[in-house]
Amino acid sequence: MKRRCNVYIIWIVGLLFIQQFISGCATTVTKDLHKEDLYRQDEQKEEMDLIGQKLFRNKCSICHELPEIDAYPYTPEQWSSIIDIMHDTKAAKKFITIEETEKIKGYLGRLTQTR
Ligand code: HEC
Repeated sequence: MKRRCNVYIIWIVGLLFIQQFISGCATTVTKDLHKEDLYRQDEQKEEMDLIGQKLFRNKCSICHELPEIDAYPYTPEQWSSIIDIMHDTKAAKKFITIEETEKIKGYLGRLTQTR
């Protein structure tokens, strides 16, 4: 009887150990997944910024020199309305589509977010 008891205890300790090990693994996996998500979001933002930057350089220099972003004190909202005004002419609509203005707004908005 005494020996049996010992076997049970060893079993229980062993199971607890395995359980700890498995739950430890599970949390590291979820943490890694979360990190990967954040990383992917960053990557997507960078990609959007690259697209926005390219559009800004190409499209906003058609009628005038490329505006020097830092030379204007505009907030993201003000940039947004300026882009709307720029875009709201027949001439501009030939050069810039609505989708492109949205991407340029996103780019300038993120650049000037801290204002
Ligand atoms: C169809 C031609 C055209 C395009 C395309 C255009 N602009 Fe302009 N933009 C103008 C004109 C014309 C003025 C001058 C208006 C004025 O001085 O009153 C101007 C002036 C500006 C100014 C100065 C405004 C101020 O407050 O002094 C900024 C900033 C500007 N544009 C930004 C942009 C940005 C950003 C884009 C790209 C989304 C863009 N523009 C695309 C025609 C255009």
